[in-house]
Amino acid sequence: MGRGSDGVLTVGGVSVTELAREFGTPAYIIDEDDFRSRARDFKQTYAEVFDSVSGGADVFYAGKAFLCTEVARWVHDEGLHLDVCTGGELAVAKRAGVPGERIGLHGNNKSVAEIRDALDYGVSRIVIDSFDEIERVAAVATELGVVAPVLVRVTVGVEAHTHEFIATAHEDQKFGLSLAGGHAFEAARRILGKPESLRLLGLHSHIGSQIFDTAGFEVSARRIVGLHTQIARELGAELPELDLGGGFGIAYTTEHDPLPPKSLASGMAEIIERECGADGIAVPRISIEPGRAIAGPSTFTLYEVGTVKPVDLDGGAQRVYVSVDGGMSDNVRTALYDANYSCTLASRASDAPPVLGRVVGRHCESGDIVVKDEFLPGDIGAGDLLAVPGTGAYCRSLSSQYNHTPRPPVVAVRDGVARVIVRRETIDDLLALDV
Ligand code: LLP
Repeated sequence: MGRGSDGVLTVGGVSVTELAREFGTPAYIIDEDDFRSRARDFKQTYAEVFDSVSGGADVFYAGKAFLCTEVARWVHDEGLHLDVCTGGELAVAKRAGVPGERIGLHGNNKSVAEIRDALDYGVSRIVIDSFDEIERVAAVATELGVVAPVLVRVTVGVEAHTHEFIATAHEDQKFGLSLAGGHAFEAARRILGKPESLRLLGLHSHIGSQIFDTAGFEVSARRIVGLHTQIARELGAELPELDLGGGFGIAYTTEHDPLPPKSLASGMAEIIERECGADGIAVPRISIEPGRAIAGPSTFTLYEVGTVKPVDLDGGAQRVYVSVDGGMSDNVRTALYDANYSCTLASRASDAPPVLGRVVGRHCESGDIVVKDEFLPGDIGAGDLLAVPGTGAYCRSLSSQYNHTPRPPVVAVRDGVARVIVRRETIDDLLALDV
């Protein structure tokens, strides 16, 4: 992103005023080179570090951060794999031509249809999230006459320093099988007992998202490698893969520095090599699953300002409420996670003294806030364009309509009769939006 001599923001050689004229607002503007170079950076960094330590490394782009057919193509072009967590995301990957062997399937409640679809397409891994799922995947594999490659998602018991709704490795949450409780080991044992339908590739852990503290990742790596070596010792299985998940934090405001790909790779490699070496077992091939760190910074949202309203605060201060033409229908992260964003006047320069602003949406909720606090030029007014950076991951609302999940129908009932008044959305409805 840069600015022309007229103060207008430009991206990829196009000014935001042209973008707004052609595509309207609100619009999500993605810088393709930025997205691709972040993807490449992960791929190269992990290859450099892990090629000499283990069988190498694969980077799975976590499609939940943002997925559409074109982005799936970029990811594939750049040599990354793709992590999908619903049948909808898998449908996008298929449409983009991403081959099954480059795809992994996640999810805490995959349907039998999703499992069947994934195995039928030949995905390279299904991440098992419960004991129930061991039986479910085995049954579908038997029905299809295939052996399903699986990982076990392990709850490593790490309290990640992030918002509680996006921390995923403490015990009391829905994902994974507990390491401390012995469930993950038991899952591995059961899977190894079904060689006719399941092939245990390895273990998986994802401690949460928007994390800056490398210590959490390292504790997690030590614990999961501990289980990996225990499985080798006690069950006689040297698993070929180990997946360390995603979670790399990005800078939404000046409050944080991003966690670059390199910051973890060497530390992880050291831990894994040491622990495996101590038990004399082969170092597994590593995978990671970054989403936000690839998609997030590549995109900004362009809004048009409508109403501007000063509001008096206690103590005589004022806050200016700047209403824009989107809001929580495209970015719910501020309301849901108390997320911080910044924003900038994008369509012109201004020397007006700054005022404390709050950017709010057009929806009927006082929680419909996009940017909680930002100093904006005091002459901001209707027709100005605002850019909110860092909205490439988990926006619009929560990206790709929440994991490409079709919305349910609405059924009206009366006098013993039920009829559909809004039909169930289909994956094809969602795919129809991809150009
Ligand atoms: N792998 C697994 C198994 C995951 O569950 C996730 C994210 C990722 C990888 C990618 O994590 P990332 O690198 O993007 O942090 N809606 C929330 C974030 C939810 C994250 C869900 N899982 C937000 O807007 O902050």
